[in-house]
Amino acid sequence: MRKKILEINDLSFGYEKTPILQGVDLSIHEGEFVAIFGPNGGGKTTFLKLLMGFLDPDEGKISLFGSTPRKAREKLSYVPQVAQFDRQFPLSVLELVLMGCLNKTTWWGSFPKTAKQKALAALEKVGLKERHNQPFGTLSGGQAQRALIARALVSGPKLLLLDEPTASVDPEAEAQIHNLLLELKGSMTILMVTHDLQSLIQKADRLLCVHRSITSYTPKQVCEHFAVGLYHPPIGSP
Ligand SMILES: Nc1ncnc2c1ncn2[C@@H]1O[C@H](COP(=O)(O)OP(=O)(O)O)[C@@H](O)[C@H]1O
Ligand SMILES: [Mg+2]
Repeated sequence: MRKKILEINDLSFGYEKTPILQGVDLSIHEGEFVAIFGPNGGGKTTFLKLLMGFLDPDEGKISLFGSTPRKAREKLSYVPQVAQFDRQFPLSVLELVLMGCLNKTTWWGSFPKTAKQKALAALEKVGLKERHNQPFGTLSGGQAQRALIARALVSGPKLLLLDEPTASVDPEAEAQIHNLLLELKGSMTILMVTHDLQSLIQKADRLLCVHRSITSYTPKQVCEHFAVGLYHPPIGSP
């Protein structure tokens, strides 16, 4: 049995007085590839923020790598949606990826020598090594998203969180990003918020529907819903 890396017990969270997540119980095991879906405003991004320790639960407990999310932060990486990232930021692609090693700079502020090699290796993995000197702002949407994935990979995370990485890219770039994530599958735990459920159902180990509560489905259960034309998010609500 694979190790549990995430355990959530009876979690509740709300902004001000508005409850967003209630009574969440969930565990995730090492190496799982999990697709997260649900209606807009259902709490998917909030859930990721709780896992990163940027928000604290009102009730209940999140144990990540046997510790609190805040203390476990160095074991995880986050890939934001490219549209939310300032593409005009004056950085080369390589410099953007090096930002993923910022917590590893020396006390006098320079990167360890290996950082550049690691950054180039991460760029190679996402198919952008040749573009490392190019300004980040000149990349296409799909390439920019892959560069952000390289930035997330460079620190060697055990858990990779992605928030709708294919939301603003064309179908070809979407397929490239999916293939890249499937190559990474198993080498780290991956939690990915996505609207492209259809193309990922068969490939994910598990699917989580986030809508006030969090319901876990096997790919087979979700397929059965689609097969009978019952897809009306969130699946499983009473
Ligand atoms: N910082 C915030 N303060 C108050 N309400 C928020 C904040 N962030 C998100 N919300 C609200 O919480 C709900 C869940 O948001 P979010 O987690 O972003 O949903 P999703 O990612 O599933 O679309 C939404 O109704 C949203 O408007
Ligand atoms: Mg969101």
